Amino acid sequence: MINLSTKRKEIDTILVLDFGSQYTQLIARRVRESNVYSEILPWDIDEDKIKSMSPKGIILSGGPDSVTNTYTPRVPKIVFELNIPILGICYGMQTLAEQMGGQVISADQKEFGYVELKINNESVLFSDLQKSLNVWMSHGDQVQDLPDDFELVASTETAPIAAMQHNSKPIYALQFHPEVTHTEDGKVVLDNFIFKVCNASKDWKMDDLISNRIDEIKKQVKDNKVLLGLSGGVDSSVTAALLHQAIGNKLVCVFVDNGLLRKGEAEEVMETFKENMNLNVIKSDSEEVFLRHLKGIHDPEQKRKIIGRTFIDVFDTEATKLKDIHFLAQGTIYPDVIESSGSESKEARVIKSHHNVGGLPDEMKMELVEPLRDLFKDEVRKMGVELGLAPEMLNRHPFPGPGLGVRILGEITKEKTSILKEADHIFIQELIKADLYNKVSQAFAVYLPIKSVGVVGDERRYAEVIGLRAVETVDFMTARWAHLPYEFLEHVSNRIVNEIEEVSRVVYDISSKPPATIEWE
Ligand code: XMP
Repeated sequence: MINLSTKRKEIDTILVLDFGSQYTQLIARRVRESNVYSEILPWDIDEDKIKSMSPKGIILSGGPDSVTNTYTPRVPKIVFELNIPILGICYGMQTLAEQMGGQVISADQKEFGYVELKINNESVLFSDLQKSLNVWMSHGDQVQDLPDDFELVASTETAPIAAMQHNSKPIYALQFHPEVTHTEDGKVVLDNFIFKVCNASKDWKMDDLISNRIDEIKKQVKDNKVLLGLSGGVDSSVTAALLHQAIGNKLVCVFVDNGLLRKGEAEEVMETFKENMNLNVIKSDSEEVFLRHLKGIHDPEQKRKIIGRTFIDVFDTEATKLKDIHFLAQGTIYPDVIESSGSESKEARVIKSHHNVGGLPDEMKMELVEPLRDLFKDEVRKMGVELGLAPEMLNRHPFPGPGLGVRILGEITKEKTSILKEADHIFIQELIKADLYNKVSQAFAVYLPIKSVGVVGDERRYAEVIGLRAVETVDFMTARWAHLPYEFLEHVSNRIVNEIEEVSRVVYDISSKPPATIEWE
């Protein structure tokens, strides 16, 4: 994996110590978003490494463990000895409290989701903010007694100590997650820590990241050819542009038409990349082989694995035909890594296995190049803008690697993909027409494996059900269902039922993430 460690020496750094939270990378990216350099290290990193970075401040992430157990991660001694600002978040707060003489208990009631935070003491972290904020919580344990020399800053109904600060040192702790976009003014709280407590300067920018990544790619692949699986989505397009800048025509792209793409997508991708961008793209028509491998398979994880495996087989075949290919590039981004728990963190838990994570089979002698592996979608988009990619391409909604395969619940057949492609196309077309496409972060149709009764004219129609999903999110780690206008949904539903004979009913998904994921499988 390429990392961010090629930073210039003199840049102010905020170090994030990782205790295994799903949100650790989010903390680092929020810091980067404020143009301050940030690096993540595991909590048990060598103390000398922490010292050598001379951080301006340290943020302790959340994590899934409980400090009420003996052998769980703790803050290394050096963190306290450096006498620099510290901010503990969730588990980071709990271990900080416990190590400094406070008491942590497993609360009777777990707090999960939105809660109202009441700020009842002066604190630079909340300066210029209202006295009550809607914040995002996700915890079982909580601080019961303040450590010596700490004072209470804020509470919620069930967590009396939801924020605390040392009364003479720059040490702060929050039970909620300021890094999650759903926390009201969470960014202001983090910025207050970065700028008002740590006095960090804004001297880091996206250009540095691009040139660092290009150098890293050159260093990694040298004069060798690199094969890239191009899907036409934002991630693989930005990966292609980055690699193209780094190694020019040594980049060979393979576009796999697996039959699980959106309507008209294969033609569009070939036109954009081969004709407009002049990239070396080979199209592999593989619908038949994918459908054959997926025949009779109902389980979502098994479908993902088969699709991933078939992709790799196809690449392998193409690579063998091409000869001398030693590297395989992938547009893996951070949410793919964390949700497959191929994560760098030992403590994170598995949610779904994303097909492009988990490495290659041993017999495939190609090394991976994944230059976006620690970035979030919107950071990738920003990188794309800097690299000169077209806004229409960058603003396309994300499309999962397994494609319609995870949007057809249950077994996948050609007939179902055809129905879903049509329904999805109608939904997307209408979103664009109504100027709503760019207002939602992702929208798509889902094929539900049930039939329902409908009436069309005088006829009873016992037919398929299509689900529509549209969400609003910044980082795809959490998401809210989009409140699309009723009239709009009515119009889309009418079009789908009238134009697709096989469909008798349309439903709209009103689940947020968490607890639902964005995709249905
Ligand atoms: P979930 O469903 O996990 O989706 O909330 C979060 C984002 O990731 C996309 N997604 C995938 N992308 N391979 C991908 O490249 C996958 O296997 C995959 N599964 C989900 C999803 O579309 C959403 O944008």
